[in-house]
Amino acid sequence: MKTLAAARICLDGVVKAYGTNTVLDGLSLEIPAGKFTALIGPSGCGKTTMINLIAGYDAPDAGLITMDGVAVRDPGWDRLVVFQETALFPWKSTLDNVMFGPFNRGLPRTEVVRQARELLAKFGLSGFEDKYPGQLSGGMQRRTELARALINCPKVMLLDEPFRGLDALTRELMQEYLLRVFDEHPVTTVFVTSEVEESIYLADRVIVLSSSPTITKKIIDVDLPRPRDIKMLSSRRFAEIHGEILECLFEEAAKAFQQGMKGASDLFEGAASIMSGSRW
Ligand SMILES: Nc1ncnc2c1ncn2[C@@H]1O[C@H](COP(=O)(O)OP(=O)(O)OP(=O)(O)O)[C@@H](O)[C@H]1O
Ligand SMILES: [Mg+2]
Repeated sequence: MKTLAAARICLDGVVKAYGTNTVLDGLSLEIPAGKFTALIGPSGCGKTTMINLIAGYDAPDAGLITMDGVAVRDPGWDRLVVFQETALFPWKSTLDNVMFGPFNRGLPRTEVVRQARELLAKFGLSGFEDKYPGQLSGGMQRRTELARALINCPKVMLLDEPFRGLDALTRELMQEYLLRVFDEHPVTTVFVTSEVEESIYLADRVIVLSSSPTITKKIIDVDLPRPRDIKMLSSRRFAEIHGEILECLFEEAAKAFQQGMKGASDLFEGAASIMSGSRW
């Protein structure tokens, strides 16, 4: 597969409301080209809304979203989204699912088959080309999704909690695959997660969002070298960054609690998750 290009994304004063619910009220944010940016923030603060806007599935009410200085108006093959829900075609084989984009655009079948096989191999799916999504495990389905997006050589990958719902071991495996592919093809990546560890392990930059209103609470540049290694999880620097992010998130939870808003129930949910070690 050829090396992918990458693009810089800017959100400038973006406003988005659903009826009377103003989710984004003038959000400005920069996503650097060719870097892995993780977005982390309270449930309902508008992360999926942001992904939909960058993807061009939805338009802001005010403000501007640009990709390399050009306004984003519609969806395009240069920006691809992988959501937590699988969107594979159940009636197509793994290979045909991965081939869908380029084949649909009329690229020669032999070349597309070659690229699809190569990508499936990178995601540990050689030998599963003829299986249908229903015959794959959850982790395999997510890897197929990633391959299906990457084959289109997007400039931007938008990943909205793509590993949510996977068991811990499968999730770790997915992180390794994603890291390896990103090192090889450093395309601009926006990765929404609720896992603090995952955000640090994968990203060059972690953006912590706060809610009501949704603003950038903190930008943390993760200065751990690449390629990332599982041993880094127990390094002093990792622990420092982890502490910094958790502090921000707890401040947010406390703010919601003090405001006595609906966040109180979210807080309990969040606290219970931290204790269970799965979600903050
Ligand atoms: N299509 C829609 N119509 C109406 N309201 C919506 C729509 N999409 C999102 N919302 C509302 O906008 C707010 C932000 O939702 P969004 O899904 O972007 O949050 P999120 O940060 O992705 O949350 P989570 O972490 O739970 O996935 C929520 O209050 C939600 O109810
Ligand atoms: Mg969401």
